[in-house]
Amino acid sequence: MSSSPNNRAAHAAAPRGDRTPAWAELSAWVQAPGAGRGFDLKGAFARNPQRFEQFSLQAPGVFADLSKNLWDGPVRERLLSLAQACGVTDKRDAMMAGEVANPTEGRAVLHTALRAPRGQGPHAHEVHTVLDRLLAYAETVRDVQSSGLRDVVNIGIGGSDLGPQMVVAALQAQSHPQLRFHFVSNVDGHDLAPVLRQLDPQRTLFIVASKTFTTQETLANAHAAKAWFLAQGATDVARHFVGVTTNLKAAAEFGITTTFGFWDWVGGRYSLWGAIGLPIAIALGEEGFRALLRGAHDMDLHFQQAAPPSNLPLQLGLLDVWYRNFLGFGSRSVAPYHQGLRRLPAYLQQLEMESNGKSVDVQGQPLPYATSPVVWGEPGTNGQHAYFQMLHQGTDVIPVEFIAVKTPTHGWPDLHRKLLANCLAQSQALMLGKRAEEAALESPPTASPDMAPQVMARHRTFPGNRPSTTLVLQTLDAYTLGALVAMYEHRVFTSAAVWGINAFDQWGVELGKALCNQLLPRMESGDTSGLDGSTAGLLRMLR
Ligand code: F6P
Repeated sequence: MSSSPNNRAAHAAAPRGDRTPAWAELSAWVQAPGAGRGFDLKGAFARNPQRFEQFSLQAPGVFADLSKNLWDGPVRERLLSLAQACGVTDKRDAMMAGEVANPTEGRAVLHTALRAPRGQGPHAHEVHTVLDRLLAYAETVRDVQSSGLRDVVNIGIGGSDLGPQMVVAALQAQSHPQLRFHFVSNVDGHDLAPVLRQLDPQRTLFIVASKTFTTQETLANAHAAKAWFLAQGATDVARHFVGVTTNLKAAAEFGITTTFGFWDWVGGRYSLWGAIGLPIAIALGEEGFRALLRGAHDMDLHFQQAAPPSNLPLQLGLLDVWYRNFLGFGSRSVAPYHQGLRRLPAYLQQLEMESNGKSVDVQGQPLPYATSPVVWGEPGTNGQHAYFQMLHQGTDVIPVEFIAVKTPTHGWPDLHRKLLANCLAQSQALMLGKRAEEAALESPPTASPDMAPQVMARHRTFPGNRPSTTLVLQTLDAYTLGALVAMYEHRVFTSAAVWGINAFDQWGVELGKALCNQLLPRMESGDTSGLDGSTAGLLRMLR
């Protein structure tokens, strides 16, 4: 389903979602009895024994059960028409071909090129030159007898932190056994101090990761780390500090001589596939890093080539639009049933909310509809003992995304069976619920004997019919993780394409940065003139 250059040129003219007939049809459809929030999931399964098969998809490395969602064939058809009317596949092809997909910064968006095989894709020569150098350097660090290194500290924030941190945690079982990895991001000495306390400067490699090399937090932490390093009597900054950046000049001014570059066509939150992935390359080695890229590339091919009805990222992005704009769901909870994926929700928050948290379209026109949901979550089963109460009985409907991994890397099959049974039980409970009549038949041991049974039953009723998606990986390895993350990237792209927004800029972070720079000297001087009363009062308290 690749499109021609002519089709691509047409994409700029593609209407945004609300200006298509499919949007109007979906708006009407959602009002019909038994549609939208009134869609009866249990009834849908009872009527259609094939529902699981019809609403599940296998993509490279990732299986998705979409059957416990509040949709049916006609909704899916209309969502696919919506995607077509909005030119989603043309926009996809334009992006992957290197056309400007980030118009406010006048940039191409080519993270897919970072994982294209040698000789393929835009900028293939530059990409593979840096990759080969990066992987060769990573091997020298991994050779701990020669390198003498034992600790790797990544200093970066946002996209220069969350991706590598998430992947290194996820693939800890495959990580170099004699190297420890640390991630310092916050401009808070409480982040840096406990890391430094564990380190021997002679055995430590600091990676200063910053696309711009101007980010306040990262530079402040890097300077503090360098001062600590020198204060310990160590001298060889050039050997113990390396840089990952597009700003080679600023890195050199810091004293860094070993740098790995990338390009302005790689967005921060899409950058783990290249030089920003250095901690991953050191943790996993060349084979592992290349497997991560292979998984992502296979997902790219799937997104590019699979027909819309069997295209997983496309379907997920459309489901997100359905939930956000037609059913009014404001958030989505991600529950990875794998402790290794504990940083995935944080990673996805940046990927999705920094990309799609926009309120004007690409032409700068205010949008009359909602965009990015709030994305949040914790690994199961921990979340079950914290906020799942609200998911089951709260007043908001929050679609949940479960991630289950079939085969663990540990040797406790009994623990793993319990983990997976919990995962299945939660999506089942959300869907099935419990009626008051059923609750009334139970006598829970902790229920107060003073409460009337029918009142008690109301407290113990679950509305059910709460939607969820379950993603299944056979194992959590570099290949499947690469595929999973690329799937999320393309899903975010899909909903952005329907919403007609630019998913690749982040102007919303600028104002706070600018005001911080103005407040910083006032923190020292105490000057509160011209400030609003609250900021002035707080500044006086905090300095
Ligand atoms: O938060 C804004 C942002 O620009 C992110 O998009 C980016 O990932 C992060 O800051 C870090 O930027 P840099 O890599 O340039 O230090």
